[in-house]
Amino acid sequence: MKHLLSAKDLTHDEAVMVLDTAEAMAATQSRAVKKLPTLRGKTVVNLFFEDSTRTRLSFEAAAKRLSADVINFSAKGSSVSKGESLKDTAQTIMAMGADAVVIRHRACGAAHLLAHAGWINVPVLNAGDGTHQHPTQALLDAMTLRRWYVPGTGAGDGSPAPQGRDLAGAEVVIVGDVLHSRVARSNVDLLTTLGARVTLVAPPTLLPVGMENWTCSVSYDLDATIQAVRPDAVMMLRVQRERMSAAGGGFFPSPDEYSRAYGLDLTRRRAMPDHAIVMHPGPMNRGLEITAEAADDPRSRVIEQVGNGVSVRMAALYLLLADEGNQL
Ligand code: NCD
Repeated sequence: MKHLLSAKDLTHDEAVMVLDTAEAMAATQSRAVKKLPTLRGKTVVNLFFEDSTRTRLSFEAAAKRLSADVINFSAKGSSVSKGESLKDTAQTIMAMGADAVVIRHRACGAAHLLAHAGWINVPVLNAGDGTHQHPTQALLDAMTLRRWYVPGTGAGDGSPAPQGRDLAGAEVVIVGDVLHSRVARSNVDLLTTLGARVTLVAPPTLLPVGMENWTCSVSYDLDATIQAVRPDAVMMLRVQRERMSAAGGGFFPSPDEYSRAYGLDLTRRRAMPDHAIVMHPGPMNRGLEITAEAADDPRSRVIEQVGNGVSVRMAALYLLLADEGNQL
């Protein structure tokens, strides 16, 4: 594979290989000197047309830890505000000598277009395209799950996963604004490829139409799902208010009612199996989809997810770039 555009593109063995590589990268990050010489002389360009904290910082840290040079571009304050097209922006960046491009864009398919339109000829990594895909988020979630869930026996202890482990039999419940969530889509694809079962829980207004081909179950009732599924992990999704107001709002009656039906609080947390972990891709709306107590609960893996993000992005950059190997 030359690009990382969608979690759907990864086979089971490719996904396990990326996760094994991410564990190897993580192991290097506890050393006093974190920098590896692997991508010395390469330049990674981060093209961010949409807001981001974690993903942008994480891709930057990952590239720098591999000794690549990093050029950060954000649309705000650039010529994109003057109406410059994606094509012209991409070609400008290439003229500066990029060896890989990381792109986040509000339009679904932007990463695919950049990779295949013939404007540039370097690996493209999708850092989120509209409501469509966010493959490195799914990989970091899978890395986190692989440390806390052991196929066959259930609970893990959070230590680095052995090579080759997948998520066979894991029960993962993903809750909230599925309609607007590239995180949910990417996770349904990747987690099921790795052998997990996924149940999406959301109000009907926050589920997309045409889910017949999705490899997951769907429920409107969070409490009943926690009882029925006995999840190994519950992943809360951010209520994406910026995309809702663009669509005119009206997706749920009131924030309070949303929290009561679909928010994670300590009562729901206690209804989960003892070993189950709580996940959230960030940024969190504390008090809406998750209470502060649940976000800061010992079972919450939110900060760990961020750390694993650096490791999986190091792995992805390494596999796509090192020695022109295109090992992915
Ligand atoms: C997610 C995103 O941007 O899709 N965040 C992230 O990458 N950490 C989820 C979100 O914004 O809700």
